[in-house]
Amino acid sequence: MTSTEPVAKFERNFAMDAVRVTEAAAIAARTLVGRGDEKEADQAAVDAMRTALNKIDIQGLIVIGEGERDEAPMLYIGEKVGTGKGARIDIALDPLEGTTLTAKAMANALAVVAFAPHGCMLNAPDTYMDKIAIGPGYAEGVVDLDASAADNVRALANAKGVKPTEITACVLDRPRHAEIIAGLRSVGCRIQLITDGDVAGVINTTDPDTGIDIYIGQGGAPEGVLACAALKCVGGQFQGRLVFRNEDEKARARRLGLNDDQFDRKYSLNELVRGDAVFAATGVTSGNLLDGVKVDRGFIYTHSVVMNSQTGTVRQIRMKRPFNEG
Ligand code: FBP
Repeated sequence: MTSTEPVAKFERNFAMDAVRVTEAAAIAARTLVGRGDEKEADQAAVDAMRTALNKIDIQGLIVIGEGERDEAPMLYIGEKVGTGKGARIDIALDPLEGTTLTAKAMANALAVVAFAPHGCMLNAPDTYMDKIAIGPGYAEGVVDLDASAADNVRALANAKGVKPTEITACVLDRPRHAEIIAGLRSVGCRIQLITDGDVAGVINTTDPDTGIDIYIGQGGAPEGVLACAALKCVGGQFQGRLVFRNEDEKARARRLGLNDDQFDRKYSLNELVRGDAVFAATGVTSGNLLDGVKVDRGFIYTHSVVMNSQTGTVRQIRMKRPFNEG
C-alpha cells in the first residue's frame, strides 16, 4: 500500500479485545517478576497472549512478533491468530516488553499489542531504529529526526512555552547515545535514562503525568512501530529510520517485503501505521504510566491503557477479579 491509497478502517472497535490480550500476558508474567529468568517470563507471557488472541473473532496475522518462524515457535511473524472469523487484522505485539526489567523487578515492564487493518503497519524487521517521539498538542514538524538533540529540545521548549531546562527527555542508557545525551545536557534538558523498555519511553510522551516530553534514541525497530501506533491514536508525533548493522539484517528486511530504497528513508508516523489503529498496554511492573500486576487477599489487579485512533479515545482500565494462586 502507498500513502495515496485510501486509509483502511476498522469495521468494529477492538479496544476491549486488545486490552484483554495484554491483561492476560501481564498476569502470566507476574509470577516471574524478580525471579531472574527472562526466558521463562517471556514464555509465560507469550503463551497467555497467544491463548487470548485465539479467542477473538478476527482473521489475525502477526506482522510484528517474537521473531521469524524458525526462531520463534509461537507468535512468530506470519502466524495466524484469532478464530478465523471476522475482519482481517494485522497485529504487532510484544507479550513482555522489558524481559530484563521483569526478571530484575525493575520499573516499566509492559505487555503490549497493536491492531491495524490488514496491510496497514510497516512489517519492521528485527533491526534497530532511530526514533524521535513527542506527545499530542504540538504543530506538525516541531521536532525532526535529522535535527540535533539540542535543537529539538529548544524547538519543543519554545512550542511548549517553557525553557529547555523544563523539558524532560527519555533516552536508553547506552554508549551509542553519548552524543545525544551530551546534546541534551548542553541545553540543560532533564534526562530520564532507562536501562530497557523504550515502548514505555515513547508512550510516556502521550501523558503529561509521566513527566516525559520527548523520547530520542535508537532502539528496536519492531518496538518503534508498536509505540508509533499509540502515538497515532493520541495525535502525537513520531519519526523513525531503520538502522542495519550487517547484511543479514538487510536480508531479514527483504524477507519481510521491504525494498532496498526503503532502508534509509525517514518514516513518518502515518507511513509506519497507515490506517486505523488500536493500541493496548498492561503494566507488568509499575512504571511512569501504569501500575504493575498486584495480588492481594484473593483478588488480582491490573492497570492498562487502551487507545483508539478512530476516535482518539484513551482509556485507563483497572481490572479486579477473584484470583486463586493455586
Ligand atoms: P527485551 O528484549 O529485554 O524486552 O528488551 C527490549 C528493549 O529494551 C527495547 O525496549 C529496546 O527497543 C531494545 O531492547 C533496545 O535494544 P538494546 O538492548 O540492544 O539496546
